[in-house]
Amino acid sequence: MTKEEQFSLFREKRSEMMRAGGEDRIKAQHDRGKLTARERIETLVEEGSFIEHQAFMVGRDASFGLDGKRYPGDGVVAGTAKIGDKQVFLFSQDFTVLGGSLGEMHAERIAQVQQLALTNGSPFIQINDSGGARIQEGVLSLEGYGKIFRNNTLASGVIPQFSVILGPCAGGAVYSPAITDFIFMVDGVSNMYITGPDVIRTVTGEDISHEELGGAAAHCAKSGVAHFRFASEADCMEAVRTLLGYLPASNLEQPPVVDTGDSADRETPGLATLIPAEEKKAYDIKDLIAEVFDEGSFFEVHEEYAQTVVVGFARLAGRTVGIFANQPKVFAAALNIDASDKGARFIRFCDAFNIPIISLVDVPGFLPGVEQEHGGIIRHGAKILYAVAEATVPKISLIVRKAYGGAYICMASKALGYDRVLAFPTAQIAVMGPDGAANIIFRKEIAAADDADAKRREKIEEFNKSVMNPFIAAGYGFVDDVIDPKYARIELIRSVEMNLRKREDRPARKHGNIPL
Ligand code: HXC
Repeated sequence: MTKEEQFSLFREKRSEMMRAGGEDRIKAQHDRGKLTARERIETLVEEGSFIEHQAFMVGRDASFGLDGKRYPGDGVVAGTAKIGDKQVFLFSQDFTVLGGSLGEMHAERIAQVQQLALTNGSPFIQINDSGGARIQEGVLSLEGYGKIFRNNTLASGVIPQFSVILGPCAGGAVYSPAITDFIFMVDGVSNMYITGPDVIRTVTGEDISHEELGGAAAHCAKSGVAHFRFASEADCMEAVRTLLGYLPASNLEQPPVVDTGDSADRETPGLATLIPAEEKKAYDIKDLIAEVFDEGSFFEVHEEYAQTVVVGFARLAGRTVGIFANQPKVFAAALNIDASDKGARFIRFCDAFNIPIISLVDVPGFLPGVEQEHGGIIRHGAKILYAVAEATVPKISLIVRKAYGGAYICMASKALGYDRVLAFPTAQIAVMGPDGAANIIFRKEIAAADDADAKRREKIEEFNKSVMNPFIAAGYGFVDDVIDPKYARIELIRSVEMNLRKREDRPARKHGNIPL
């Protein structure tokens, strides 16, 4: 080969690589309102920062029906880039090549960037747009998935892993995103399901569209599989960048501290009127969050799912914290099965990545009901207790109003491991609410009274006056301080800062066995 021929081959191969599945398929992708794999990477990362790995890797061409269908890159673009000042490793599946299906070499490229992310201690981002296992490559494809799932698992808790679903993600392919920390979806673009509408129609007779079955709304609001939903790919990518900004690159680093311009001495006078005096009156805990944490810094996770708890990242004096809050506006904030799963998983993420946890407590307890009991509320509720108890990051609790029973223990118990517990004067800490308590402990007295209702009211009032305040718990040292709500921000900042050097050892073991 002459030098000229060598360069010509180089140009041809490079252009083939960039053309991917060809102009027609790229147009089809655009016509569906979808970006191509490379355009998605360009939208996500800092301009010019993407460096591709194994760009010329191709399938073996030996498999059934794949003769003449060898594409450089094998249907995936994989490499490294910068997002902000963070190095990330990522891949983006190319639907224009064999429907983005995953064959042996496609899987190998993904596995390589996964390993590089892990050895470099850098976040890993996957952009999924794929018909799943490449049918022609059979077991090679299945083994490819096995390798990817294993890598996802080994990286869990070591580096943050995000999945951005921007097309189909079907069959066993869904399990890689499911193992990662956060799943992002876009309305009308993303689909995730184990079996699609056709199979469901055959097996169960149910008739449902792709979007209704596995679209962003279904997974963000109903199944809880996904965490974030967006109207466009561009909004989605912006959110990926924002979330990354709250996190450390790996579990060996601390989360970034940024200048948010919000004063650490700022008082929070609005809280005095926000919390209703009436024990059962609802209010929006997000109003409290907006007032206390750095202005505009709350980044909610799982916003549409299990809304009796609110979880998400925020900044306090520029420092990332994880908020685990009850939401009195939704079902009086009772903890149910889904809320337990949501809370526990969020707490474990924060603990893995050195993010202090702040509980905002106003909770009447776990939700009673046959459906909840038979659905395993015992097993699911235990996840919160387990996650809080095992977490070694600073854990701060602010009791805003109700803190009853087992839910008090989850959200505020020093014995469970909260490092500092604060309470507003409106805090009510008890085994249960005054109505239930009076009915049990004064049952005989109430029954024997001439006017049972009057007696009941009297006993409830008595219980209210003598028990429903924070000073009994404070007297035992279970509450460190009862604070004026206007100092909530200042006190929380101090509480986090005083615990930043916290070190807590755990007995050596292979791993715990969280109730799943
Ligand atoms: C090989 C595939 C493919 C696959 C799509 N293609 N999926 N090739 N293996 N899994 C190819 C198509 O043949 C077609 O090639 C091109 O990609 C585009 O696909 P279309 O069907 O034309 O596109 P569209 O109408 O948009 O439908 C997209 C789709 C559909 C919904 C993803 O292709 C589909 O249902 N594919 C199969 C999905 C699936 O059941 N996968 C296996 C899941 S099981 P040509 O050349 O004709 O344009 C699984 C097991 C993993 O993944 C287990 C891991 C543990």
